[in-house]
Amino acid sequence: MKVSEIREKFLKYFESKGHTIVPSSSLVPGNDPTLLFTNSGMVQFKDVFTGQETRNYTRATTSQRSVRAGGKHNDLENVGYTARHHTFFEMLGNFSFGDYFKRDAIHYAWELLTTVYKLPVDRLWVTVYHEDDEAYDIWAKEIGVPTERIIRIGDNKGARYASDNFWQMADTGPCGPCSEIFYDHGPEVWGGPPGSPEEDGDRYIEIWNLVFMQFERDSDGVMHPLPKPCVDTGMGLERIAAVLQHVHSNYEIDLFESLIKAAARETGCSDLTNNSLKVIADHIRACAFLVVDGVIPSNEGRGYVLRRIIRRALRHGYKLGQSKPFFHRLVNDLVQQMGAAYPELANNADRVGRVLLQEEERFGETLENGMRILDEALANLKSGQTLDGQTLFMLYDTYGFPVDLTADICREKSIEVDMVGFDEAMGKQRDQARAAGRFKSVDGLHYEGDQTVFHGYDALAWEAAVVALYVDGTPVDEIAAGQSAVVVLDETPFYAESGGQVGDAGEIVTEAGQFVVSDTQKIQAGVFGHHGELTRGSLKVGQSVKAKVDTLRRARTVRNHSATHLMHKALREVLGAHVQQRGSLVDPDKTRFDFAHDAPMTAEQIAEVEEIVNREILANEPTDARIMAFDDAVKSGAVALFGEKYGDTVRVLDIGSSRELCGGTHVTRTGDIGLFKIVSESGVAAGVRRVEAITGDNVLHWAQSLNATAAHIASMVKSTVSDAANRVAQLQEQLKSAERELAQTKAKMSAGAGAALADQAQVVAGIRVLAHDVVGADPKGLRAMVDQLKDKLQSGVVVLATVTDDKVSLVAGVTKDLMDRVKAGDLLAHVATQVGGKGGGRPDMAMGGGTEPAKLATALQSVPAWVQTKIQG
Ligand code: ALA
Repeated sequence: MKVSEIREKFLKYFESKGHTIVPSSSLVPGNDPTLLFTNSGMVQFKDVFTGQETRNYTRATTSQRSVRAGGKHNDLENVGYTARHHTFFEMLGNFSFGDYFKRDAIHYAWELLTTVYKLPVDRLWVTVYHEDDEAYDIWAKEIGVPTERIIRIGDNKGARYASDNFWQMADTGPCGPCSEIFYDHGPEVWGGPPGSPEEDGDRYIEIWNLVFMQFERDSDGVMHPLPKPCVDTGMGLERIAAVLQHVHSNYEIDLFESLIKAAARETGCSDLTNNSLKVIADHIRACAFLVVDGVIPSNEGRGYVLRRIIRRALRHGYKLGQSKPFFHRLVNDLVQQMGAAYPELANNADRVGRVLLQEEERFGETLENGMRILDEALANLKSGQTLDGQTLFMLYDTYGFPVDLTADICREKSIEVDMVGFDEAMGKQRDQARAAGRFKSVDGLHYEGDQTVFHGYDALAWEAAVVALYVDGTPVDEIAAGQSAVVVLDETPFYAESGGQVGDAGEIVTEAGQFVVSDTQKIQAGVFGHHGELTRGSLKVGQSVKAKVDTLRRARTVRNHSATHLMHKALREVLGAHVQQRGSLVDPDKTRFDFAHDAPMTAEQIAEVEEIVNREILANEPTDARIMAFDDAVKSGAVALFGEKYGDTVRVLDIGSSRELCGGTHVTRTGDIGLFKIVSESGVAAGVRRVEAITGDNVLHWAQSLNATAAHIASMVKSTVSDAANRVAQLQEQLKSAERELAQTKAKMSAGAGAALADQAQVVAGIRVLAHDVVGADPKGLRAMVDQLKDKLQSGVVVLATVTDDKVSLVAGVTKDLMDRVKAGDLLAHVATQVGGKGGGRPDMAMGGGTEPAKLATALQSVPAWVQTKIQG
C-alpha cells in the first residue's frame, strides 16, 4: 500500500465514522508564541480542547504536517542515524471535542488497524498509563488483547505525569494520559516490549498514540481539568507505511525511496544506503514546508532552526562530494511525491527553490573553509576527547556553522564538544560588542528612584517634578543655561523610544527657564530620560516644571505608526501570510518597515497595498487600546512577534481591521492618518524587503514637491503638466531628426572643405603634392575628402591628418597615373611612424594613425621631400 493510499484510507475511515476531514494547518502555529512549530495534529485544535473556541463539528480527522526540530520535541540530531526519526513527518489523527472518549477511540483504532489495514492481531501490543484502569479494561475485556500484551507504564521521569504515557504538547497547554499501540516486527529483530530494558531496540515499534485529553497545564505547572474530556490521536504516516510495506526502516517506504534516489542523483552518490542521503531526503521535506509556511532562514527563532536544518543537509551533501548548490533542486522531486496532498507546496515550489538556493549560495562560500579548519582541529583529537570552545565559536561566528552542526560532525568521530567554553567565548564577544556600541551613554546613568509615570497616550503636556539631572553621565542637583543634560521627571507625557517608534521631542519649562528636549530614551526599564539643552534660566532637582511635547512632530510620528499597522495587515493580504515583520522605524518623516518576502514587490502590489490602507483610513473607524493578559490577547487574534519578550499584561491595539500588541502612541480614528503613500521599496538582505511610506501632511508636501517638479518640467518644454509627456516625446523626435540633419550637413561641409584645399598643393618634381592637417575635421570624413581632392587634382599625391582626443588620424591617396612611382601605403607609413603609429593600405588609398600629435607638423612637412626622392630616385 503506497503512502498516498494509506493517508487516504485513514481519512476516509474516520469520515465514515462522522469525522470532518480538516486540512493540515501551517507549521507555524497561528499566534502561538509558546510553540516553535506545529508538532502534532492537535495543535490547530488547541483552543477547541480548552473550550475557548467552538467549531461546527465535534469530530475531526487530519493528516497534519509536523516538525520536531528545536523546542520541546526535537529529533534533529537523530535524523539519519535511526530508522524512524524525522525532522518533518505527517501525523494522521482523529479528534473528539467532548464527543466520544476512551472507549470509542480504542475501538476505532483497533478496527482500522485490523480490518482496514489488515494487520495481524497477534503482532499488536498496547500500553496504558499506570493509573488508567479504564483503558486497561477496555483493551482487555472489550477488545480482547491478551493481558500479557497490555503493559502499564509508570512515571519514569521523577514526577507525577512525567511518563511516556502522559502526553503534553508543550510546557503548557492541553495534555492527558495516553495509550499507545505497538507493532512487533518479530523475533529476528533485536528489542524488547515497551517498559522492558530492551525497549529501545527496533523490534517493538510504537505506531499510534491515543491521548485522552483531560487537563490544561498552566505556566505554573498546575493541571486544570478541561471542560469536557477529549480525544487526540497521532499515528506517524511514515511508520505505519513502513509496517504496511513490510520494510524495516521508514526510509525504505516508497516516498523516501524516490527522495533518496533524487538526493543520490544530485550529489552523485551511488550507494543508496548511505546515511547522508537519508538526512538530505528528510531535511528537504522539513525545509521546503517551512518555507511554504513563511519561515525564512535567519539568525533567530524559527528562521534559525530552518537555517540549521538546511546547513546540516548541505554538510551531508558536501560529505558526499557535492560542494555546489544542489539542495534546491530536490524541491521538484518533493512536489511530485507530496504536491497532490499539499497543494500549498505545489503552488509555492518556485519560491521555495529560490529561498533554498540563496541559503546554499550563502553558506557555500564558507562551508569549505570551515570544514578545512574543523578537519585540522579533529585530526589532532582522538575519539573520546573534546573539541575546544574557541574553535567551536570560531566556526560558528566566522564560518556560520551552527553549534549543533559542528557537534554532529564531531559525534561521527566520537568527539565531544566544549559547550561551556563556547558559551564563554560567545559571552566575551557580546560584551565587547556592547562596549563598542555604547554611544548614547544612557545606560550608564545611576538612578534609584521610582519609575516614570507615563501620561503620553492621552496628554501632550503635564505638570511634573524634576527627580534627577545628569551632565555627562554624572548626577547633579542643578544645571545652568547652555548646559546639555538628561532630565528625569516623576511623570511625563514624553514617549521614550521603543517598539520602533522614536522618542518625543519638545520642551520642559519653568517660569524663567526652558529646557529644549531633542530626544527621549529610557535610562532604565520604566525610567524616561529627556535629553536636551537648557536654553534659559536654571533647572534644579525638586523643581516643578511643565513638560510639553512637540505636538506637530508627535502627530506626524503617530500617523506613521498607525499606518504601519494597517500596512502590515495589507502586506499580508496582498503578498501572503509569510510576510512577517523583521524590523521597523517610525519617526516624524516616515515609517520604514522590513519584512520577510523574497521578491521585489510589483507596481501593482504596491498600488494595492496603498488602496487597502487608504480605504481603512477613509472608513475613519475609531481605534481602541486595551490592557489584557498576554494569553487572552493572543487568543483574541492579536499579532505577536515570535521571539519578542512580552510581559504578563500587554497592550492590544485595534486600528481598522488590524490587531497587534503594541505599546506605541496612535491616532484616535483611522481618518487622522490623512493619506498614506509608499515612496520606496527595496531589498535589505536575502529574503527581506524594506518599504518606506509617508502619511498626512508629509504626503501633501511630497505631492506638492512632485507637482512643482512637474510644473517646472512643463514650463521648460512650454507645455502644461498634463501634456508635458507628449511634448517631451515630440521634442525627443525633433532632436533625433535634427541630429540626423546635422550629421548630413557636416559630411557635406567637410567634402566642400576638402575641395577647397586643392589650391594649397605644392608642385614637387612636376607633380602636385598636398600634406595637410585639417583642424577640427571628423576622422571619418577624411577619406571622402581625400577622394574628392584626388578628383580635383586629377594627378597628385595627398596626405590628410586630423587630431581628436590626442590621437592622430591619417589618410593618404595617390592618383592612378602616379601609383607605379608613389605608393599610398608607403607614404602613410612614412608619416605614421613619425607620429608614433603605423598604417598601410592599397597603392591608391591608405589609412592609419598615431599617438603623438606634437610631431604631426614636422611629419607633414617631410612629405614633399619624401615624394621627390621617390620620383627621382
Ligand atoms: N498528540 C499526540 C502525539 O503527538 C497524539 O503523540
